Amino acid sequence: MKISVVGCGYLGAVHAACMAELGHDVLGIDVDETKVAALSAGRAPFYEPGFEELLTRVLGTGRLRFTTAPGDDLADVDLHFIAVGTPQSGTGAADLSYVDAAITTLLAGAAPGSVVVGKSTVPVGTATQLADRLAERDIALVWNPEFLREGFAVADTLHPDRIVYGVPADPTDAQEAQAALDAVYRDLLEEGIPRIVTDYPTAELVKTAANSFLATKISFINAMAHLCDTAGADVTVLADAIGHDPRIGRRFLQAGVGFGGGCLPKDIRALQASADLHGAVHLADLLGRVDSINREQRDRIVELARTHVGGDLSGRAITILGAAFKPLSDDVRDSPALDVASRLADLGAEVTVCDPQALPVVARSHPHLTLEDDPRAALKGAELVLLLTEWDQFVALDPAEAATGVAERVIIDGRNALDPVAWREAGWTYAGVGR
Ligand code: UDX
Repeated sequence: MKISVVGCGYLGAVHAACMAELGHDVLGIDVDETKVAALSAGRAPFYEPGFEELLTRVLGTGRLRFTTAPGDDLADVDLHFIAVGTPQSGTGAADLSYVDAAITTLLAGAAPGSVVVGKSTVPVGTATQLADRLAERDIALVWNPEFLREGFAVADTLHPDRIVYGVPADPTDAQEAQAALDAVYRDLLEEGIPRIVTDYPTAELVKTAANSFLATKISFINAMAHLCDTAGADVTVLADAIGHDPRIGRRFLQAGVGFGGGCLPKDIRALQASADLHGAVHLADLLGRVDSINREQRDRIVELARTHVGGDLSGRAITILGAAFKPLSDDVRDSPALDVASRLADLGAEVTVCDPQALPVVARSHPHLTLEDDPRAALKGAELVLLLTEWDQFVALDPAEAATGVAERVIIDGRNALDPVAWREAGWTYAGVGR
């Protein structure tokens, strides 16, 4: 099929390449010329394992191209994906200006009878409004939320856990739109991936509900970690024990410095704003609490650091292992690691940050931090070490070897990723979160 993807950020670029991989003819559209030039040359504008290889391969087939000016090409396209960003606005609600701009572009160029498929994360109620605008040109709308995780974006796009379609209320329109999207995802459906067909509001809510539930799990275990700390219990063993119950599950029960990134923090705030708007007071309260627990985890780590250097951070040499919001990513949006690093620097500490991928991004956004990509060099002279992003190379550090360069053997394991026994045996003072 002939497909366009409007918005070639993280979601759109990966989606466009994956659709070409499925055999479709894909036109990626973005307003950012630098991004379009990079993607056209087979260069990923962000770090994502496996993406650049896929991009190069599908560019080579001639089935994928990128442009800032689609012009008349839009008229030949059967199905248009919208994958633009919906950043958090000042009120916490999603800013829909890029979605509106994408719809305006499509209204001007897309052919009547084509289908628009929304993938961006939008507040409940948005799709109905957009569908009304598109109906003026006889263009149908499907809402098809995306659940990809950074670090696993290609696999999550080609082999998702489930596919959700929010379709128009009119049964004939719904059937036609569904058939078009089924044709796009034929290979995935043949693989047996569950497909849930529903109305617009449900499809819109599935995305923010999924991320809010994951965030709630993390904040729950972090709140438990606080109790474990004061009661002398170990939250990691507790998570293992409750996680064996398949109704609970062990995943997303890793206590630590909390969640960050471009999705979880933004999506809980956006859902909270929608809940407030619709008078769903308990949901709004719950999500507000999930957010505040998460933010307090960062405060706790900063306080723990202060305590471990004897109360005054000024001039103290602190090494932070990790800057990305999670491993296998160079994304520092709302990163707990980078937030703690810059707060410690603001409190006067001499902070060195080490990360295998995110340092070029950090150099641009936080020029006052000292950056070091080699962990051994980063640890040299440290009076305190904090592990805040659990990259494999940090988790695999040999505590005896790590001890040789530091000034003080004190480590705060902000991801509960290290073996406390091994680190203590090597002479380290070890502090985890709730253990
Ligand atoms: C998330 C969703 O998982 C994905 O389905 C959605 O499409 C986009 O948002 P992502 O932002 O890539 O994906 O990150 P995720 O792997 O969910 O991790 C989010 C944050 O939670 C990270 O900062 C991570 O370190 C933290 N986390 C995760 C914990 O603190 N504890 C855990 O147990 C799990």
